[in-house]
Amino acid sequence: MAVESVILAAGQGTRMKSARPKVLQSLGGRSLLAHVLDNQARPVSQQIHVVVGHGGDQVRAAFAQEPALHWVDQAEQLGTGHALAQALPAIDDEAVVLVLYGDVPLVNPADLQALCECAADGQLAVLTVLAADPSGYGRILRRDEAVVGIVEHKDASAAQLAIDEINTGLLAAPAARLKHWVAQLGNDNSQGEYYLTDCVALAAAQGVPIRAIRAAAELEVAGVNDRRQLAALERALQSRQAAGLMRDGLQLLDPARFDLRGELTFGRDCCIDVNAVLEGRVELGDEVSIGAHCLLRNVRIANGCRIEAHSVLDGAELGPGCQVGPFARLRPGTRLAGGAKVGNFVEIKNTQVGQGSKISHLSYVGDAQIGVDVNIGAGTITCNYDGVNKHLTRIDDGAFIGSNTALVAPVTVGANATIGAGSVITKPAPPGKLSLTRARQSCVDAWRRPSKKES
Ligand code: UD1
Ligand code: CA
Repeated sequence: MAVESVILAAGQGTRMKSARPKVLQSLGGRSLLAHVLDNQARPVSQQIHVVVGHGGDQVRAAFAQEPALHWVDQAEQLGTGHALAQALPAIDDEAVVLVLYGDVPLVNPADLQALCECAADGQLAVLTVLAADPSGYGRILRRDEAVVGIVEHKDASAAQLAIDEINTGLLAAPAARLKHWVAQLGNDNSQGEYYLTDCVALAAAQGVPIRAIRAAAELEVAGVNDRRQLAALERALQSRQAAGLMRDGLQLLDPARFDLRGELTFGRDCCIDVNAVLEGRVELGDEVSIGAHCLLRNVRIANGCRIEAHSVLDGAELGPGCQVGPFARLRPGTRLAGGAKVGNFVEIKNTQVGQGSKISHLSYVGDAQIGVDVNIGAGTITCNYDGVNKHLTRIDDGAFIGSNTALVAPVTVGANATIGAGSVITKPAPPGKLSLTRARQSCVDAWRRPSKKES
């Protein structure tokens, strides 16, 4: 059975009040459309058609890297039936067509599989759900157990409005039949639109069996129309992810205060305190602990590392047993070897820090190579930028940099060298020696503090 998915994504999303098309709004760090593509369309279909209209160019551009998507333009949004009609000519008559919505991101793939299997048997299969508040949605009309039609809210009678089983809009059907029904759709209804849902009545009239697959929960089939709904689905996605991670053995001190906007892998006995935000690809080894209020983006953290509260780690790689924070910032290109320590108010960028080296307080280290067992005192700054170019600072094994040192790059500090506190180092500091650039302290014996003049 070949399945071709059609993702309807031409709607404007006026209520988002955004310059971006609705399907590009972000949920868990990915666009709504990316969720539909990766979790719904790709697992079941051989071919994917995306119907775009409002902001179509932006949507296409956002997915320019994705292979094998068939883009279909719907210049005017004349209804869901009209939208599907734009895609149907390119679809094989023998295929099963699965209709998905670009703004319904959390559908259970098993339900889509069930829809497709019904359609492969020649049936029309619609995805429904029981709604606590069905207002605004199409209602499922049944005669005994059989589904006989769907009536839109605006076209429904008082008795029909009382029905709480609603149409999610997602459906599957054999392509040839669907083409036949869609060709017959009219727009003689309260909204003057071509309703895809009218296919249900056409199928019933033709004696084609109609199956309703019922989703387990409203959230799974919820669409996004405004920012509140987007936030509600974000929470739902996050708690779903958190539950999965805890099931796999991750300790989250509060799953309601944890946000993963990417992918996380972890070893045994990792613990994440409250309000962590994880973005991109995050890899944790065994026994890693992440303190409260940390942001981790594209990082690899090896066994036994401790990241203390309020630290921001972006594009960094940490060897085993490192200690970072509180209030540390590791920027892209930071590589800490095992047992390194980065303390509070330290910023590191594009720098390798050797085994066991320590930068414990209040420093900026950028574009540097630091050997093993180096100690960098509080307030040390690598002056890596001359206003035009960036330059390298090299600090060899066992060096000791006194507090409040400015290392004016390009510059090197030899192995086991010591730099006196408060120095401005512009020339190579030889290995094993003390280098310092400090005015000698003097004392003025005869000096007296000024006193108030008599008036
Ligand atoms: C539709 C269903 C309704 C169902 C509801 C669930 C119809 C007639 N009604 O209603 O039974 O309860 O979804 O949310 O199908 N779209 C296009 N082109 C168009 C119109 C819509 O691409 O011309 C896309 C939208 O971007 C959206 C989806 O189709 O992703 C649904 O459109 P929407 O206007 O939200 O449908 P409703 O009228 O709410
Ligand atoms: Ca809608």
